[in-house]
Amino acid sequence: MLNSLISLCFVTLFCVSAAAASRTKIYSINGHEGKFVSSPPAADGICRSMVQSQGYICHEHTVTTQDGYILSMQRMPKARSGKPADMPPVLLQHGLLMDGITWLLNSPNESLAFILAEKGYDVWIANTRGTKYSLGHTSLSPNDPAYWEWTWDELMAYDVTASVKFVHDQTGQQKLHYVGHSLGTLVAFAAFSQDKLVSMIRSAALLSPIAYLGQMPSQLARSAVDAFLAEDIYWLGLHEFAPRGGAVAKLLEDICQKPGNNCSNLMSSFTGQNCCLNSSRTDIFLEHEPQSTATKNMIHLAQMARKGTIAMYDYGNEDDNMNHYGQPTPPVYNMTKIPKDLPLFLSYGGKDLLSDVKDVKHLLGNLKDHDSDKLVVQYIKDYAHADFVFGIQANRDVYDPMMAFFRLH
Ligand SMILES: *[C@@H]1O[C@H](CO)[C@@H](O)[C@H](O)[C@H]1NC(C)=O
Ligand SMILES: *[C@@H]1O[C@H](CO)[C@@H](O)[C@H](O)[C@H]1NC(C)=O
Ligand SMILES: *[C@@H]1O[C@H](CO)[C@@H](O)[C@H](O)[C@H]1NC(C)=O
Ligand SMILES: *[C@@H]1O[C@H](CO)[C@@H](O)[C@H](O)[C@H]1NC(C)=O
Repeated sequence: MLNSLISLCFVTLFCVSAAAASRTKIYSINGHEGKFVSSPPAADGICRSMVQSQGYICHEHTVTTQDGYILSMQRMPKARSGKPADMPPVLLQHGLLMDGITWLLNSPNESLAFILAEKGYDVWIANTRGTKYSLGHTSLSPNDPAYWEWTWDELMAYDVTASVKFVHDQTGQQKLHYVGHSLGTLVAFAAFSQDKLVSMIRSAALLSPIAYLGQMPSQLARSAVDAFLAEDIYWLGLHEFAPRGGAVAKLLEDICQKPGNNCSNLMSSFTGQNCCLNSSRTDIFLEHEPQSTATKNMIHLAQMARKGTIAMYDYGNEDDNMNHYGQPTPPVYNMTKIPKDLPLFLSYGGKDLLSDVKDVKHLLGNLKDHDSDKLVVQYIKDYAHADFVFGIQANRDVYDPMMAFFRLH
């Protein structure tokens, strides 16, 4: 059975069952199986496919990064009633292998983007390079290997920077609240540690915070780390890490064949046992997610898990690092340099295997001198990685306290 049916769950929150013989793919969330459904063409955009159908005004924007990537952004400037926003702008930054639809997937009373719009916030949704609605580039195509030559170093230096600046400019230089999930928190921590974005940010809410990855307890994730650090796939020419593609299925198949790895419940093996997902929404999820990232980005994350540090991408030898960074080892992002008066709301879960409690505690140790009235830390015992964005009670558990925090800043 296990030879013919390989069940795979990957880094964020989805499982892949690749029936190798028949070449069909069935995906499951919380044990509920679904199938990929053809998605609307990218030209339709997220506003049309996810927001307007719920009765909300939504505008599409594009932002071009300094290195030429053309990113889509969506703005929800009004509540459903048509009442214009009277609260500050909020930028929503999704995590790894996801896109801006993250914030729109549940029913409007459960999804953060709709909730914020109802509460009067001017909501902006970011989509990083390589995701379905952000595949444009001034000179490259996603078919070019060079298009995928980046890691979260570039997401931080270019994508998030461009998105924050765009919202700031479009809203009359208003400072904004930043909300990140998963990798969307790492890019924020890294930027703040270099004093970037800080002048445009009112506060930051960081859900399922990812900074240190050194303690990640999932054995399957550890196997994935080993596989990425072998680096074969990258050098064999797999520049795009496409979770729906055959190469990734093969990689996961190899991981599952390693002794001691139990691939029968990979969702919880990778991300932790999410308490509060609505399994009836699996098909809607799979219509839109998961999304591609750069293989180089996955290798970078694997390096962090291996070394337990937060540093820039390691080219693997002193000469290449010297060429890129002017020093033999990759520069470190120093979390103790996050400005102490920057209002931060951190929410982490006791069951999260990616944002592991030990790693979060390590990060909190770096923030121990943060101004005490500027740091709120929330611990939710039963939450795993996906509950923060897809949990049906995240509204009450996370978003209400988060908005209370926003009102103070
Ligand atoms: C949100 O709406 C759905 C569908 O209308 C309902 O089943 C659910 O209980 C609501 N959730 C909350 C938190 O109000
Ligand atoms: C693998 O995990 C499943 C469910 O978590 C369990 O039922 C099964 O016994 C495990 N298999 C092995 C070989 O440990
Ligand atoms: C779960 O999702 C289904 C399908 O979209 C929906 O009808 C139902 O109201 C949702 N339940 C909750 C508690 O949100
Ligand atoms: C981080 O910065 C602090 C001072 O702010 C310094 O003491 C520490 O050594 C630095 N850590 C690293 C890893 O560079």
